Order: sequence, then structure tokens, then C-alpha cells
Amino acid sequence: MKVAVIGSGTMGHGIAQLAAMAGCDVSINDVSEELLNRAVERIRWSLSKMNEGGKLKENADSIMSRIRVNVSLNDVLNGVSVMFEAVPETLDLKLRLFRVADELAPHDSLLATNTSSIPITEIAEVVQQPERVIGMHFFNPPQLMPLVEIVRGKKTSDNYVNKAVDISKQFGKEAVLVNRDVPGFIVNRVLARLMNTSCVLVTHGATTIESIDSALKYRLGFPMGAFELADYSGIDVFYLVFQAMKERGFMMHECPLFEEKYKRGELGIKTGLGFYKYPEAGKYHRAVISTEAGTNVDLAMLVSSAINEAIWLVREGVSEPRDIDRATKLGLGYPQGILEIGNKIGMQKIMNALNSLRELTSWDEYEPDSLLQEIVLSGAKLT
Ligand SMILES: NC(=O)c1ccc[n+]([C@@H]2O[C@H](COP(=O)([O-])OP(=O)(O)OC[C@H]3O[C@@H](n4cnc5c(N)ncnc54)[C@H](O)[C@@H]3O)[C@@H](O)[C@H]2O)c1
Repeated sequence: MKVAVIGSGTMGHGIAQLAAMAGCDVSINDVSEELLNRAVERIRWSLSKMNEGGKLKENADSIMSRIRVNVSLNDVLNGVSVMFEAVPETLDLKLRLFRVADELAPHDSLLATNTSSIPITEIAEVVQQPERVIGMHFFNPPQLMPLVEIVRGKKTSDNYVNKAVDISKQFGKEAVLVNRDVPGFIVNRVLARLMNTSCVLVTHGATTIESIDSALKYRLGFPMGAFELADYSGIDVFYLVFQAMKERGFMMHECPLFEEKYKRGELGIKTGLGFYKYPEAGKYHRAVISTEAGTNVDLAMLVSSAINEAIWLVREGVSEPRDIDRATKLGLGYPQGILEIGNKIGMQKIMNALNSLRELTSWDEYEPDSLLQEIVLSGAKLT
């Protein structure tokens, strides 16, 4: 299979590597030779690490031999079966690119975007055959993260959805279907709620940053606390994705902590200071979080809005409960899916917690979803 990857940055170089590892002939495009050479070096480095860990089925040189780079879009898109677009999250840029891809790529090729927040339907509008435009939302780093959210636009056809699922499998990934291109899809919506509520509990004086992170890590078994994760990935990354989701109708009042940090340039590990302080900017260092600090945190309050969001996704037909649980396990590393966590805590407690958060903030997003209310009344379980 001939594959084109447009944009060779954080996500693009990783997707190109996955495609080459799966046996595809890959052409990568970017705006300069220098950036393309850098991407090739990053892929070479990643392959050598995978080789050291015994994770390669083939030697790195033969994988590399399937990768070409080219600044000409015309050459890169010629004769491809699939295009992966991984350019920055700017609507104009993506639209411009899809218009060109529509002209240059074969008419039956799949046109996939890795966008985190732009509706697929909006991108598909500039293409003659919108049925072939789809979201294939890989997670960072694509080489290691097992999940791909397959996002349908209004006009994406079943045929291309199936093709995207097959490709994900070929790349060794687990696909989760997102039937409507709601801002943030599944994982970022659930995460946005968890992070914002973590922040609300701190700013309303109910608890501390360390207590929240401790409860999430040591009582719920999450790989990182909410603030620790923000520092790790970059507070700017989350702040900007959540802003983009809000601009597209995701209802979330801003809890000020993230914005303050973003405006001060205290972005986490990369700047040496975020919600925690690190000995050296840019160098990974685990935040110090005590196991006891989270003992008194109310878990139902902490996760209730994330569970309410997952229930909204089910009621709106965006995804199935099983897929939402798979997405939160695979995309966020939770030991149980977010709905499974809700069932374990008890949906009545989740609803009570939402009502308390609503009283505390007067924010409508804490209103218990009508499906949650039904579940509580009937005692039914979402499976
Ligand atoms: N970084 C993440 O954690 C992450 C996770 C999931 C999805 N995404 C999404 O993936 C996409 C790419 O994000 P990223 O983090 O890889 O960005 P990035 O900035 O690391 O890389 C983008 C690359 O695109 C190149 N580019 C810019 N204009 C171009 C053009 N006209 N033609 C070809 N290449 C061009 C840039 O030079 C750069 O190399 C975005 O839509 C983002 O929302 C990012």
C-alpha cells in the first residue's frame, strides 16, 4: 500500500513510522528539506530504541528503505491509497491541504486527518467526494499508544470507515468508532471534564493539587494525576485543545488555574515549572506525590463529570459504552473504563456529586445527564 503523510512533526513522523513498519511505501511531505531530514532522524532513533527493546519484526534498515521524503505535494500524493494529514491544528491550513489532496490523490484514496478538534464534516466540505474523508486520531506518541479514534464526518461512507479500521489493525492499533465528529471526540472530552473538575475542587478550597493527583494515581490506579499529566504533556497543549473544543460548542467554564499557568509560560516539565517544580527544564522527572495525600478526596466528586460526559456520548449515539470504556483504558491508561468506574462507585453517588458540583459552581455542565437520571431511577447498567 502506498501511503502519504503530510506534516512530519510530533504526530506525522510517528504515523509514517507505523506505516513503514506495517510494510507500506511511505512518502512524507513537509514545508522544508530540513524538517523532513529531522523527521527521518527521529524515525531512525525510534526504530533503534524499538530494536533494542526487541520490538521490531524486521531490521530497521529495511523499514527505513520504504520511507521517502519530498517537499512536493504533487509527488507525494501521486498514486497513494491513503493520505494521513498531520499539519498544525489550523482550520485554513487543513482546508487548503484537503483541497489540493482532492485534486492530486487518486479519487478512491482515503483522506484521513489527525485533527484533535476540528470537525471532520467541515474538512470534508472542501472535497468532491466527502465520503472518503475521515478522522484517524492517533495519540502521542503514535508508535507506542495503542488507540486510534476513527471519527466519521456526516458524509463518511461505511466503506471508508471499514478501510480505516483495517489500516489501524494493520498498524497494530485498536480502533474505537466515533460515530459523530463532536469536538474532542471521546478521550479529550472525558479528559477535559476530569481536568477541569480537578481544578474546580482545588480552587474552591476543597483539596490540593497533590491530593487530587494522589487520589487519581493511588486510589483509582490512573497512570498519572490530572496535574501531573498536564505538566508532562504541556499545560499549553491541553489549554489550546480545550479552547478549540469550547470554540466549537463544548460547554465548559474555564477553571482559572490552567489559563494562569499558560499565560505565565509555566507549562510543565518543558519549562521546569508547571503545577509542580522540576530540577531541570525539558528533562523528564517524576513529580513527587505522596500516597497518603489523596486519602480524603471524594472520588465521586472527582470523576463524576467525566462519567456524566461518557453517558452523554452514549445518549447522543456518539459511541457505544464498550468503546468508550476501551478508549479511556487505551487512550488514557485507566485500569478500568470510565463507565466501569462509575458503576463501581455507584451512579447514585455520581449523580449526587454532580448536584453538589452544580451547587458549588452554578455551572450547567454539572447538570446530571437525563440518561444518568434514568439509570439511577431504574437501577440499569450501561454495558
Ligand atoms: N501532539 C499531539 O499530542 C497530538 C495528538 C493527537 C493529535 N494531534 C493533532 O495532530 C496534528 C499535528 O500535530 P503535531 O503535534 O504533530 O504538530 P507539529 O507542529 O509537531 O507538526 C506539524 C508539522 O506540519 C508541518 N507543516 C506545516 N504546514 C505544512 C504544510 N502546508 N504542508 C506540509 N507540512 C506542513 C510543520 O512544518 C510541522 O513539521 C494536529 O492536528 C494536532 O491537533 C496532536
